[in-house]
Amino acid sequence: MLQEIFDRRSVRHYTEEPVTRDQLTEMLRAAMNAPSAKNCQEWRFVVITDRATLDRISEIHPFAKMMLQAQAAILVSCDMDLAFTDGHGYLDCGAAIENLLLEAVHQGLSTCWCGIAPMVDRISNFRMEFELPGNLVPMGIVAVGHAKQSRDRKDQYDPEKVVWWKN
Ligand SMILES: Cc1cc2nc3c(=O)[nH]c(=O)nc-3n(C[C@H](O)[C@H](O)[C@H](O)COP(=O)(O)O)c2cc1C
Repeated sequence: MLQEIFDRRSVRHYTEEPVTRDQLTEMLRAAMNAPSAKNCQEWRFVVITDRATLDRISEIHPFAKMMLQAQAAILVSCDMDLAFTDGHGYLDCGAAIENLLLEAVHQGLSTCWCGIAPMVDRISNFRMEFELPGNLVPMGIVAVGHAKQSRDRKDQYDPEKVVWWKN
């Protein structure tokens, strides 16, 4: 089994140790290797390490207080002009975000995925703050840092949620 999948947890408290540009680049590389419908690769990224902007995110998102401690954040937007359909845009960007999170674990980092779309107020806040053009829909923002305390790994396998069809 891929251990990063089980080690990944949402972490909301971080140390002051910085996250390097190389680590963030590896996360972005992983994100951009996600599958996408019709291979549209319609994801777009804004990388934030500036303290004042990280703090500001905690004010424009109702459930992102962890940004006050995060050392970096990656805003993931969808270019709806490129997406096969809007729905596929959500799916493709979700796959990219999950890759970001798993590579972060591989880099020894912790993350928390904060949802933006489809909440209209959050979309509008992030559009304004990051001066996104109309074709870009902000989908989610990922807080990144070194965990203050490690969280237990978990295995949520539940046979009740599986049908082994004609097996
Ligand atoms: C689409 C999406 C939106 C989320 N939004 C938030 C959020 O706004 N704030 C937050 O603290 N956690 C957010 N989370 C993290 C979930 O709360 C977390 O994944 C869930 O509780 C399971 O815990 P785990 O990530 O440790 O497995 C979000 C997760 C997803 C997938």
